[in-house]
Amino acid sequence: MALLDISVLGAPILRRETEPVLQMTSELRQLVTDMFDTMYAAKGIGLAAPQVGRSERIAVIDLEKSPITLINPVITMRSGRSKREEGCLSIPDIHFEVERAAKVVVEARDVDMNPITFDGADLFGTCLQHEIDHLHGRLFLDHLSILKRRQAMREWDEQKDDFPDLLRRLTPEVIARLQAEDDELDDDAPAHHRTDVR
Ligand code: NI
Repeated sequence: MALLDISVLGAPILRRETEPVLQMTSELRQLVTDMFDTMYAAKGIGLAAPQVGRSERIAVIDLEKSPITLINPVITMRSGRSKREEGCLSIPDIHFEVERAAKVVVEARDVDMNPITFDGADLFGTCLQHEIDHLHGRLFLDHLSILKRRQAMREWDEQKDDFPDLLRRLTPEVIARLQAEDDELDDDAPAHHRTDVR
């Protein structure tokens, strides 16, 4: 199992446009596997390639034991508006309500490059939009009002020194702490109710 370092807010890779995947390779399959391992270790429900320093248009999502790989995903339909609290594995411990489309249809390829379509609403819909944003250099903070964004940046300024080189390293100590926090949460709510980490 390979855990990848997660780039945090301020890392240029998070702001770059990704490149579509033209062909699946064994190296990219390994990347997908490593992204799932990293996401699970970080207790996230979604992770996009730029967050692990890569420029391929790949994201992974797992809300509750149903892993989804999105290769070259595109939102083909949006409807309604809804608000939900979001967080991001690249912006740890910062959470704000974000307004997005209430429902989306997403067309993508799976890890075998077969076409797949998802209807996403609720948490899944939010997660799809959040991860696809990452693949175009956008972060959930971009959807906030100027005031809220300033507040988020103040909160971030207080903790950014915890991430030398703008990397979040999943050391055994970090993983143990995340696991302990997760166990605590599980007493109150099933894992899929954790809407706050991506
Ligand atoms: Ni994120």
